[in-house]
Formats: sequence, C-alpha cells, structure tokens
Amino acid sequence: MNIDVILTPAELPALSKSNLNKTACVVFDVLRATSTFVTALRNGAAAIIPVSEISEALEIQKKRPRVLTAGERHGVKIRVEGQEFDFGNSPLEFLPEKVKGRTIVSTTTNGTRALRACAHANTVLAGAFLNLSATANFLRGKQFQTIVLVCAGTRENPALEDIIAAGALCDELKQGPEKPSFSDSARVALAAFRHAKTDLVGKICESENAQRLFAIPGLRDDIRFCLRGNVFDLVARMKGGKITISR
Ligand code: MLT
Repeated sequence: MNIDVILTPAELPALSKSNLNKTACVVFDVLRATSTFVTALRNGAAAIIPVSEISEALEIQKKRPRVLTAGERHGVKIRVEGQEFDFGNSPLEFLPEKVKGRTIVSTTTNGTRALRACAHANTVLAGAFLNLSATANFLRGKQFQTIVLVCAGTRENPALEDIIAAGALCDELKQGPEKPSFSDSARVALAAFRHAKTDLVGKICESENAQRLFAIPGLRDDIRFCLRGNVFDLVARMKGGKITISR
C-alpha cells in the first residue's frame, strides 16, 4: 500500500488529470466542509452533492426543488440574487429534523473543489477527525494499491488542520498488518501530526483557518465540534457525484 498526500490545493489541477483507476482518495477539509458532510450524513441526510460553483448548486435545485442548498463563501452562508441558501457550512446547522432523508447540494471554497478534483478515482471518501478510525478501517479492509490523502487547504494555500488529519490517518494505517510505504509528503503529514498530537486542539486553534472562523460571529463552536476524534462510526463515500454512507 503506497500512501501519498496532496498537501496544497495548487496540486489539484494535476490530480484531476491523473489516472486514479486503482487509487482511493480521502479528502480532508476539517474546517469545515468534510466535517460538515459527515455530520449531515450522521444526522440522516440521504446524500450530499458537492459542486464547485454556486451556479451549479442553483441549477441542480432548479431541476430538483426538494434538494436543499448549502455552502459558504468567505465562511458565511451564500446569498445570491436575494436568495439565501438553506444552510451555510457549519456542522451545527445540519440538525436531524432539518436533514433527515434530504439530499443536499453543497458548494464551498476549497472542500467541494478538492472532492471534484478526484471524483474519477476508484474510491473517494470524505474524511474528518470525526470519522477517522472508521475511514482507516475501511481502507485497511480493501487493500488498495495506492491511497492519496487530499488536503483541501485554504484558498490557494495549505491548511495545517488538513495536513494534521492526513498525518493522523497515516498513523492509523501504520498500525495495520500491512506496512504502508509513505511518500515524502506523507512523511511531512505524519511529522505534523506527531508534533501536534499531544495538544491537537491547541495547535489547530493557532491555524489560519481556525483564526478566520473564530473571527466570524457565531462560528466559534464549529472549531471544537470538528476537532473531536472518532465520534461517528461511519464512512462517507462519493459515488456518481453523491456522498452517502458506505454500507
Ligand atoms: C472550504 O471548503 O473552504 C471550507 O470548508 C471553508 C469554511 O467552512 O469556511
């Protein structure tokens, strides 16, 4: 099992053109897109459709009016032409009574872009601290030749929390019976995780993304929510453009 890590969104255009026929990709946008998707699924959402553009989300909702819209630009809920999306990108908004049985189309700055960039891979998972061990167990059970951990980042830059989460998954995969072979970028992620491990929340709270969210009224609680480890025993898998719970 070869493990590689995409550390920055600058690598996404190349990823979208590479052959991923035998590859499993795990996308991390810990603050907050993939944490939010995992939470929405856990709370009963039928599926999440990640799209890159606001116009794509509106187009899908126009054709399928029962689909709910979600997403953010600059961290806050999208409003276009006087219309407000149903949800922003806070996991705390996706309550069971609001999402049960519903399909949600979401567009976020980095997370949905990263998911779209590897949509052609053999297997695509949405990863978060919230479901890290479940994701690791799934990957171990399938014995993929190559696993690429995709850090969604912030705008065009790497994001510390995504790299630490990728490192945490590398660490879990290392514990399995098959000894993985790590690329240098995977070693960087592992080193970041090991450095942060004893004070994960403290270290991530120093990150640019956490600081940005702290500065937006009402979003403080999202950070601690997203940084909890293994609270959901579910694997979120994207197939045919939709993320659902893998059964
Ligand atoms: C993103 O996709 O860039 C994010 O998850 C940003 C956010 O939640 O504010």
